[in-house]
Amino acid sequence: MDVGILKTVPLFLGMTDAALDDIRRLTVRKSISKDTILVQENELGDCMYMIMEGKVKVTNVGSDGKEVILSVLGPGDFFGEMALLDEEPRSATVVTLEATEMLLLRRKDFHSLLEQNRELLSNLLSTISQRLRHANAQIRSLALLDVLGRIAKLLLEIASKEGRKLLDGSVVFRRPTHQEIASMVGTSRETVSRMIGELSRDGYLRISGKDIIIRDELNKAFP
Ligand code: CMP
Repeated sequence: MDVGILKTVPLFLGMTDAALDDIRRLTVRKSISKDTILVQENELGDCMYMIMEGKVKVTNVGSDGKEVILSVLGPGDFFGEMALLDEEPRSATVVTLEATEMLLLRRKDFHSLLEQNRELLSNLLSTISQRLRHANAQIRSLALLDVLGRIAKLLLEIASKEGRKLLDGSVVFRRPTHQEIASMVGTSRETVSRMIGELSRDGYLRISGKDIIIRDELNKAFP
């Protein structure tokens, strides 16, 4: 593996070529197929993962089997660091949503790299802070918004992260399934279908095949 590819990973930003070469030596590259469980909640963990290509979902499952999607991570993101940092079992389950290319780093190598590289520590803390901010926003949404508001906020968040702007100011992106949206906002698939129908009838969005087109009016209605 070329160290050039490691320079594209935000976690490794600002690191010297020598440090990146250490990472190249210490990581193992793996190709993993869709729908594979990489990390299981409550199990012991011995490595962390960096995503080079593909997407995973981070989930918790309730005692009734209902799934909550905490986050969807993609290229440049990492996961599995928490169990290595606090020595607790895995805090969530992580499953591939598509064929994925990963780098794996073992616990002892992760700790020795952290001790030797200030940039790595600072990048790690910065990402963990961003995740806490995002989790705070999710708690706020759950406490203060109704289901319609939570769905609108989620669609606007995905639009700003992954969307492509059209000439009329609308934003288009590949739509998640109604079940995925339901698991992200804490409601049922049926409710999501009804709410998306309402938002569509009121002209806030349009479904087009596998895509969803969000009109600017949705942004104004849910600032
Ligand atoms: P770990 O607890 O080792 O295994 C599950 C991983 O999921 C965890 O480390 C984090 O890397 C990741 N994770 C847990 N909660 C979140 C979250 N709210 N947002 C993004 N990633 C998370």
